[in-house]
Amino acid sequence: MAWENDLGDQMVHQNHHNIAETQLIQYFNLVVKSARGAIVTDVEDKKYIDLLGSDSAMNVGHNNPKVVAALKNQIDRFIGYDAGYFTNPTSIKLGARLAALAPGDGHNKVAYGTSGSDATEGMIKFARAYTGRSYIVSYEGAYHGTTYGAITAGACDVDMVRKIGPLLPNVVHVPFPNLYRRHPGESEHDVAIRFFNAFKRPFETYLPVEETACVMMEPIQGDAGIIIPPKEYVQLVYNFCHEHGILFAVDEVNQGLGRTGKFWSYQHFGITPDLLATGKSLACQLPMSAVLGSAEILDSLKTSSYVFTSGGNPVVAAAALATLDVIEEEDLVHKSAVDGVYAKKQFEKLADKYDCIGDIRMLGLNGGIELVKDRQSKEPDPDAAAKVIYRAFQKGIIMVKLNGNVLRFQPPLVITRQQLDKAFEILDDVFNDLEHDRIKLPTELEHEGW
Ligand SMILES: Cc1ncc(COP(=O)(O)O)c(C=O)c1O
Repeated sequence: MAWENDLGDQMVHQNHHNIAETQLIQYFNLVVKSARGAIVTDVEDKKYIDLLGSDSAMNVGHNNPKVVAALKNQIDRFIGYDAGYFTNPTSIKLGARLAALAPGDGHNKVAYGTSGSDATEGMIKFARAYTGRSYIVSYEGAYHGTTYGAITAGACDVDMVRKIGPLLPNVVHVPFPNLYRRHPGESEHDVAIRFFNAFKRPFETYLPVEETACVMMEPIQGDAGIIIPPKEYVQLVYNFCHEHGILFAVDEVNQGLGRTGKFWSYQHFGITPDLLATGKSLACQLPMSAVLGSAEILDSLKTSSYVFTSGGNPVVAAAALATLDVIEEEDLVHKSAVDGVYAKKQFEKLADKYDCIGDIRMLGLNGGIELVKDRQSKEPDPDAAAKVIYRAFQKGIIMVKLNGNVLRFQPPLVITRQQLDKAFEILDDVFNDLEHDRIKLPTELEHEGW
């Protein structure tokens, strides 16, 4: 597999020999040596502009100096003590900070976890315990993680659930509205109503509303292709929930912490959810997640129903506190909003030149750029997306795709304007190469898996 990078190829080969297939998402043979801000350096010292942000887990940038200093400081004191038994000042401080970030103004609490998966799964536990009801409604296209509850709630890739059933019982999936793929002549309002009717259908046919514990939603679907639903739709579902005693739970693991130009993505929709799951960028990808919600809901589980040896670990908590400081001090939520508008304009300029760009969905530094065979039919073009990210990789950009044909744009929020401009200059060349059929994928990459 000699693509670009011999040392990288060898190391990736070794990795495949030792690491279980299920943990490998095959893109390019890039082995990271170091990273700073929005720049990643590989083992052959080639530099890349990171438009993936380590899977949206590095909002404050790679090795942010404040986060590194906080980590070192805490490590010098002690690495950890199971905070379920005996806590520590750092975890206590983070608890107060996160509780203040929970939706709603009452007495809020925090439940620490170690991954986005356990946090979304935790929301299922809290919702069931608090309501005494068993059914969960979630969405087609959703990704909530890979522990049993989380993987059951998700629905974006059949391979994820092959061979592992039975999954969690009483989880129902409804379709998520996609404005790009609306029916001819439909307004945004029409789409909201059509999908709200689809949402209500299970309740009219087989799902007892009084046995439904929660609706779990990524307010903006990430892995489905950065799909932004109509605000009216989210509000209709939210109001339905509250009329029927159903909790509204949001998964902010991918879209939270400034990614969308608001602190939490649900804030675009004028609602106040009952439960919120966060993770990924919270501690710069170190194992930290949290479920946030009212004390009443979070105290509904008995001791040890949702607790982890490393939950709220002080080293990771120190990183999370520093991360929250950086977001605040560097005004990254605002920066994300402003740079998102700028980035959208740059993609629109590319769309003026290249017909394969069918849709540009962008809120904050958070984009899904959908590539199509032609704009009339909107037929997805996964081959074009594969070629674009491959040539971008060759030219020094880390970018991946979502749902086959959507380019994923989620750089660290600290990316500079100069770096953004450079990335768009390169992408212009890349689309030019695509248009002139100058990109040939290596055989190893000529498959649909990614
Ligand atoms: C929306 C969302 N929820 C949950 C998860 C699961 O997080 P983790 O991989 O940390 O378990 C992810 C991960 O990509 C995600 O994007």
